[in-house]
Amino acid sequence: MNLPETLIPIVEIPLNKNIRLFIKREDLVHPEISGNKYWKLFYNVNNYLDRKPSHPLIITFGGAFSNHISAVSALGKSLGIKTLGIIRGDELSDKWRENATLTHAHENEMEFRFVTRTAYRDKEYLTQILEKEFPEALIIPEGGTNESAVKGVKHMLDDRTKSFDYLCTAVGTGGTVAGISRFSEVNQKVLGFKVVADSSLAKRILELSGRENFQLIDAHFGGYGKITDENIRFINWFSNEFGIPLDPIYTGKMLQKVFELIDEGFFPEHSKILAFHTGGLQGIKGANEMLSKQNRNFLIN
Ligand SMILES: Cc1ncc(COP(=O)(O)O)c(C=O)c1O
Repeated sequence: MNLPETLIPIVEIPLNKNIRLFIKREDLVHPEISGNKYWKLFYNVNNYLDRKPSHPLIITFGGAFSNHISAVSALGKSLGIKTLGIIRGDELSDKWRENATLTHAHENEMEFRFVTRTAYRDKEYLTQILEKEFPEALIIPEGGTNESAVKGVKHMLDDRTKSFDYLCTAVGTGGTVAGISRFSEVNQKVLGFKVVADSSLAKRILELSGRENFQLIDAHFGGYGKITDENIRFINWFSNEFGIPLDPIYTGKMLQKVFELIDEGFFPEHSKILAFHTGGLQGIKGANEMLSKQNRNFLIN
């Protein structure tokens, strides 16, 4: 994996307030290995390939709508490396073709193993079994979060990002916010918008980051993967107003919450806020399929 040849754009979202909001379009880093996934995979994959495995294989874990599964499959395809996805939910084994993310991953030649939700929970055990079966493989944890991922997130920060008072990102497994926290400037505040209701995240992020400069804010709007009518309205409004698509699971919820915080006076006047667009747009297709089954409005894509 290479460093991008050009700077990732930072664009202002005009607010007509004494506060300025900008978005770093990390989603544009790669057409398919989008946003934070590119950076979380960067050192994991490059260090693995530097070891020159004779039959390279990348194994990872995820749910049926996982951006990470989609990104790893695309990475495998682009580098000519085999990939294996350990997918949560054995009920999907005969109906994965109904799922847009898995169909796309299959087109990228990812192979799947479907495991029960109970078995999936014990990923340590699953990993041990996989290590025995595939001793040469690179096994990447769910969401890609590990020490190498945190190091890769450093590339999301550069000289331009130093001038912001607040750095905002969506939080799933915590690797991205941990990297931003570890590599940000001393005067910067890091806000992580939790899209999962997981009370163990703060401890995990602190372990990964080693710094206490971050604050976690709930942004799950009813739970991970739940999409409310308000979320749909916000994402469609944002896309029409500013021409930037957001995904319904991570970036849409983060920015909706950022707007709420601005309205509530959370940010002091003259604050400069930078929100990272961490990608995830592949999820819109699957979300629209789900919404259509519920006779609900669609997300613009
Ligand atoms: C689009 C998007 N944004 C944010 C995140 C959250 O990242 P993390 O799991 O590192 O907290 C993810 C998950 O990888 C994601 O897919």
